[in-house]
Amino acid sequence: LKRCKVTFQPVNQEIYISPGITVKDAINLAGLELDFPCGGRGKCGKCRLQIPKGAVAPTQAEQELMDDASLGQGFRLACMARITGDTVVELPYVTTPKHQILIAAVEKQIKLEPHLSKTYLEMDPPDLRQQQPDWERLHASTEQAGLAAGDKPALELLRALPQTLRETNWRVTVLTDQENILGMEPLDTTDKLLGIAFDIGTTTVVGYLLDLRTGQELAAVSALNPQTRYGADVITRIALAAREESGLAELHEAIISEINSLIGEAVGQVGVQQEDIYTVSVVGNTTMHHLFLGINPRNLALAPYIPVLQQPMALTARELGLQVNPAGMVYVLPNIAGYVGADTVGVLLATDLDWSEGIKLAIDIGTNGEIVLGSKERLVACSTAAGPAFEGAQISGGMRGTIGAIDHVRFDDGVKFTVIGGGRAQGICGSGLLDAIAGLLQQGIIDFRGRILAPDQLTAGAERYADRSVKLESGVKAFVLATAPETVDGRPILITQSDIRELQLAKGAIAAGIQALLERLGCGLDEVTQVLLAGAFGNYLDPHSACTIGLIPQALESRVRPVGNAAGAGAKAALLSRSEYQRAAMIADFTEYIELSAYPNFSHLFASCLNFPLR
Ligand code: FES
Repeated sequence: LKRCKVTFQPVNQEIYISPGITVKDAINLAGLELDFPCGGRGKCGKCRLQIPKGAVAPTQAEQELMDDASLGQGFRLACMARITGDTVVELPYVTTPKHQILIAAVEKQIKLEPHLSKTYLEMDPPDLRQQQPDWERLHASTEQAGLAAGDKPALELLRALPQTLRETNWRVTVLTDQENILGMEPLDTTDKLLGIAFDIGTTTVVGYLLDLRTGQELAAVSALNPQTRYGADVITRIALAAREESGLAELHEAIISEINSLIGEAVGQVGVQQEDIYTVSVVGNTTMHHLFLGINPRNLALAPYIPVLQQPMALTARELGLQVNPAGMVYVLPNIAGYVGADTVGVLLATDLDWSEGIKLAIDIGTNGEIVLGSKERLVACSTAAGPAFEGAQISGGMRGTIGAIDHVRFDDGVKFTVIGGGRAQGICGSGLLDAIAGLLQQGIIDFRGRILAPDQLTAGAERYADRSVKLESGVKAFVLATAPETVDGRPILITQSDIRELQLAKGAIAAGIQALLERLGCGLDEVTQVLLAGAFGNYLDPHSACTIGLIPQALESRVRPVGNAAGAGAKAALLSRSEYQRAAMIADFTEYIELSAYPNFSHLFASCLNFPLR
């Protein structure tokens, strides 16, 4: 997919964009500052700059506002000129951006540039000589402030207008986006401008309440996705939506109502009102995305797994029933494919993978593992059905990573483990399972095929664990990880032969996905500069264990870096910055999706990834 390189001089900064955006948008995307006195409407002619090199044809507005000589020398209006090829832009002056905020998980700096802005206006009242109607007066005053006022006032705004203007002695705050007046409030309310970013996971929903004027995070709230009561994974939810007429409505309403209660919780924590929230951004996997919008995801479960849409969506909060300011807007990030959704776009946005000089590998492991590999040159992505083993499901002693779960295990002169919340163990979660199996492998208690060795087969120091290698009544072999006195219910927590097989399937799927992407990009492991692990599990797992079992290639161990909830960080970036939201669309277009079920020899590749690496 074609992208254009834009180089800004004299700062010598490069960015990569999709063709068709304006020079102004590119300047904002790069986080650079330039003044746009008329708000970028091609009226003032003040955003003039030189484009010494590049495909940027003059528009009609430029022809009207500039003379032929200037146009001939490559001068353009930044807000009008559209980039269609590689371009060099000469900035007339260089200033440091005014606002930069830091998104903690990945230390991403972005320029603060909210979708909606508030401006306080003081107008002269009409009299017998100045008989301008109310709307035209508000419109003119808004334009004078350098804002776009649009020409289609909302009926609701018109109905409130005469009374509000007169009651406030012609002092109001207008809420505008890039094109229109969206709302109006009595007197000066510019100190209230909040937004909330949501990451809708299959299991958990997280919301971040942000002050859009400062970028400051005010509250973080989370809850179990209420759709889990209809099924733990996306497939059961798609099946419900596809099967029953009411299924889709139930799933949609469940998530909308949970989001509304999280909004209530967040504003309650901070002591503000729901009406103070003006924008909402949303990421989620493609199924969560569709269910949030009330779109039937049924085709995602059927080959060729086609989503209803890829592009980003801007909607009114009202049409989705979100309880925020009545003039509020919702920005939903785009998807890449049926199983690589807006959450992955969020990860890429937060980690700037699409602008990376070196090749990076980003992995978000849940029930599905979404994997993206590449750099500014090319990005390839796939999704692997990792199965629920990493979330503790289908594991004999498995549980989610909550209180009571064994989360880390060491074989250090005996079996040592830690339990979330302290106390006795109730089960084992994904990161604990990974550590346990890596330890069993390193101690020589299981072989590279994953078989648990019998007590009499243990050698080289592993003999000390002989009494933990047991055969259950069913004949199944198992390793006793936590003995009966160490557990909550007095029953030992085991790693059974079938638990090991489940883990092999899960890690084999991810490892094969990584291999397929490396092959497709034609790149060797030595060229991969970083491995970014996103999501709760990625943040919690021990990279050494992940590499020991071959989930991540061993050669990359020293390059592994957890990046926290990068999908959520992407949602925050898109909430705080219009440019970042626009860039999300470019990322979705640019990233090449590889459907592994159609990948040549994928089953062979998968089979070859099931064994553990030889020690
Ligand atoms: S900002 Fe006024 S013409 Fe571009």
